Amino acid sequence: MAIGIFDSGVGGLSIAQQVRTLLPYEDIIYLADSGHAPYGEKSQHYILQRCTTIIQCLIDKGATLVVIACNTATVSAISALREMFPIPIVGVEPGVKTAVKNCKSGVVGILATTQTLKSAPFQQLAQRFSNKIKVEAQACPGLVEQVEALHLTDHKTQVLVAQYVQPLLNKGADHLVLGCTHYAFLAPVIKIVAGPNVSIINTAIPVALEVARRLDIEGLASASTAAGGECFFSSGEQDLAHRQFNALWGKAVKVETF
Ligand code: DGL
Repeated sequence: MAIGIFDSGVGGLSIAQQVRTLLPYEDIIYLADSGHAPYGEKSQHYILQRCTTIIQCLIDKGATLVVIACNTATVSAISALREMFPIPIVGVEPGVKTAVKNCKSGVVGILATTQTLKSAPFQQLAQRFSNKIKVEAQACPGLVEQVEALHLTDHKTQVLVAQYVQPLLNKGADHLVLGCTHYAFLAPVIKIVAGPNVSIINTAIPVALEVARRLDIEGLASASTAAGGECFFSSGEQDLAHRQFNALWGKAVKVETF
């Protein structure tokens, strides 16, 4: 029994880290589809096909619950995937609700991929709060690639972040929602551009709490009190995959191809 977690690449490690912290006795299998990233500019049909292949692969490796640690894949495919697979599937969506609840300026900014922002589930999510707060969305092409390349703080990343964050600040946003799991690794740069009066909202902890809740409800939680193990897989280039996981997971780990 294991928790299967996947993303278009290594962004979902920001979710996996919180799952590991909250659930130390669970085994985790993480799969990065870096060979096919980014998903954010791809069609819904393509994303659904990739997710179907990956979830089957995770089940074959022993996953009994799957986390789609990717906003783009969640909004594009989660309903169809839940009908296809008999196991619990937890997704991740931009944390608009939390931002709206704490917003004082009347404007919340969302940073996400093009595909997430144009999806019906996101449009509905934004619409739900539009009578109270202005939800300003900003697509951020190029940022996923910067994280995949481990260029977390370089000049190009700083320029792109400023280009995407500044318009939201100009519109008066006092909360910035990270609507893509890769952006968690850019939070230090985003914080510098946004300044001390703007809050950054990341959904990794709520997702980990939801995973714990579902494991409990479904009777899937580990009965062991031994530390859970981790297995990592990537469809990307192996040398880069090793560097990515070592840097973002925070310790040297073995990464296998899938
Ligand atoms: N981490 C994915 C997300 O949360 C990135 C999607 C992409 O590959 O463009 O949306």
